[in-house]
Amino acid sequence: MSNMPSRPTQPLAHDGERVSIEGTSDASLASVTEERRLAEERVKQRNPRVVTSDPSGEVVAQVTAVSKRFLGTLALDDVSLKLVAGEMFGLVGPNGAGKTTLLRILATLIPPDRGEVVVCGFRLNEVKKIRGVIGFMPDVLGVYDDMLVREYLEFFARASSLPPTTRDYAVRETMQAVGIEHLAEQPVDGLSRGMKQRLCLGRSILHKPRLLLLDEPASGLDPLARLELREILRSLQRQGATIVISSHVLEDLADMCDRIGVVSRGRLICVDETKNLIEEQGTRRLRVRALGKGEELFHHLKAYTQIDGVRWDNDHILFRLGGHQEQDLSDLLKELVSKGFPVVSFYEEPPSLESAYMNVTRAGEGWEVAKS
Ligand SMILES: Nc1ncnc2c1ncn2[C@@H]1O[C@H](COP(=O)(O)OP(=O)(O)OP(=O)(O)O)[C@@H](O)[C@H]1O
Ligand SMILES: [Mg+2]
Repeated sequence: MSNMPSRPTQPLAHDGERVSIEGTSDASLASVTEERRLAEERVKQRNPRVVTSDPSGEVVAQVTAVSKRFLGTLALDDVSLKLVAGEMFGLVGPNGAGKTTLLRILATLIPPDRGEVVVCGFRLNEVKKIRGVIGFMPDVLGVYDDMLVREYLEFFARASSLPPTTRDYAVRETMQAVGIEHLAEQPVDGLSRGMKQRLCLGRSILHKPRLLLLDEPASGLDPLARLELREILRSLQRQGATIVISSHVLEDLADMCDRIGVVSRGRLICVDETKNLIEEQGTRRLRVRALGKGEELFHHLKAYTQIDGVRWDNDHILFRLGGHQEQDLSDLLKELVSKGFPVVSFYEEPPSLESAYMNVTRAGEGWEVAKS
């Protein structure tokens, strides 16, 4: 992609001039609003939007130039997005970026101020029709009163468009799909958080929606439960559902999602296939360990122009190195050894969705981006 820095043409320079990736300086309360406005301006001017060509396939939802403001906050700013049938789309972004707002608009829970939204062929004012074909799992779990798990799902089956003859079957099938059939006669209030998450997911898929909107479904889940959630979602995708999932668990999204959209300060600043995003925006990180001369090596690395983000990770030093060629690694290793550092471990961590996310959002938030 065009904004990838090219390989440095100079040999590794050790002159002390470094690129800062730290955030802006402390701002007084009075200047926060102005700073935010300026940051919003910077985001627009920097044109960090990296939206690839739309994917092919039947369009399930289309968001065009949507904006939404809550009092002084521009929660969504001119967002456009196309979702195609059968894809799993990950929505990422810092806290307050606008992910929930976008999901709630798609779920017909709040109207946009501007722009157009079409879901499964229906406009947003056709609320009932849209709700019949979507499932929405909110980020905050609801109140359950004194219901049993089975009763809870039966209640929502009755409230949905499911015909009476298929409701019992749908409830049983759903409990099985999300792995809570053994809890059918348990009171909902007594369920663990993870089991409540599953129940909530079950409630949103009861009527086999074409579009499933999940707001942080993995939050609070243990690693095994997260793995199971991934399996459940993959299985729903195999059955044809289009899934939009917002999450801060980037590892899960990298594993599951076909495409990722990065939201920053209300703007969708990047939409790309997951693989492309990681390859093209991710940063390679290196880990090195030297016997006995760790501190000295740490300060030595900090002084290279092409190196930044130097930090300790247990007894290893972690850092980013500019350029994309294997030769850069080899040159650096040769240089460290020739300078007498007893290097016992030196390896490259491949780019990850996490590093791609960091780079894209730092650019979006108006931060200086690490050269990689
Ligand atoms: N009902 C509301 N009233 C006032 N402000 C709101 C409301 N809903 C959202 N906002 C504001 O809009 C912005 C976007 O919020 P949103 O909940 O969409 O962010 P998010 O990306 O989902 O964040 P998080 O990762 O923390 O869940 C935030 O600044 C938030 O405070
Ligand atoms: Mg949210």
